[in-house]
Amino acid sequence: MRLEPLRREHIRRCVEIERILFPGDSPWPAGAFHAELDAGGYYLVALTDDEQVAGYAGLAIAGVPGDWETSVHTIGVDPAYQGRGIGTALLRAVLDRADELRAPVFLEVRTDNDNAIRLYERHGFTRVGVRRRYYQPSGADAYTMKRQARAAQEVAG
Ligand SMILES: CC(C)(COP(=O)(O)OP(=O)(O)OC[C@H]1O[C@@H](n2cnc3c(N)ncnc32)[C@H](O)[C@@H]1OP(=O)(O)O)[C@@H](O)C(=O)NCCC(=O)NCCS
Repeated sequence: MRLEPLRREHIRRCVEIERILFPGDSPWPAGAFHAELDAGGYYLVALTDDEQVAGYAGLAIAGVPGDWETSVHTIGVDPAYQGRGIGTALLRAVLDRADELRAPVFLEVRTDNDNAIRLYERHGFTRVGVRRRYYQPSGADAYTMKRQARAAQEVAG
C-alpha cells in the first residue's frame, strides 16, 4: 500500500467508493473531485500493490501565504480495506501538508460517526460546533471540528 497524489484517472473508483460509504449523504460525483483538483486541493489516494484505489483523502486550501486555512473535505476507505491503518495514514499525510502551511484544519463529521470522530480526536481535533441537518437527503447533523495550526499547538505545548 502506498500514498500518491490523486490523479484524474483515479476519480472513477473514488466515486464508486463514495457511493458505498455515503449512500444517504450526497456522495460526491466525479465533477466534485475534478473541481477540487482544479481548485488546487491537496488530494491523495492509497493504492494497493496492484494499483487499485483503496482510499482517498483531500484537503482544501484557502487563504493567502502566511494566513492559510484548510479543510478536510473528504476521507474514505473502501470497506474491504478498513481497519488496516489506511485512514490514519491518509489523515496524517493531509495534516502534514496543513502543518507545512502552518494552517488550522476544519472538517465536518456526522455526529453518529463514532469511528471517524475518535480518529480525528486522536489527531488533535476538537468539536467547535454543530450543524443541524448538514447532510442531505439523510438530514443527519454534523459536528464541525477544528485542529489548531501547528505553530499554535507548539505554543500551547
Ligand atoms: C473513517 C475511515 C476513513 C477510517 O479509515 P480506516 O482505514 O478504517 O482507519 P484505520 O484503519 O486507520 O483505523 C482508524 C481507527 O478506526 C478504528 N476502526 C476502523 N474501522 C473500524 C471499524 N469498522 N469498527 C471499529 N473501529 C474501526 C481503528 O481501530 C482505528 O482505531 P485505533 O487507531 O484506535 O486502532 C473509514 O472508516 C471510512 O472510510 N469510513 C467511512 C467514511 C467516513 O466516515 N469518512 C469520514 C467522514 S467525515
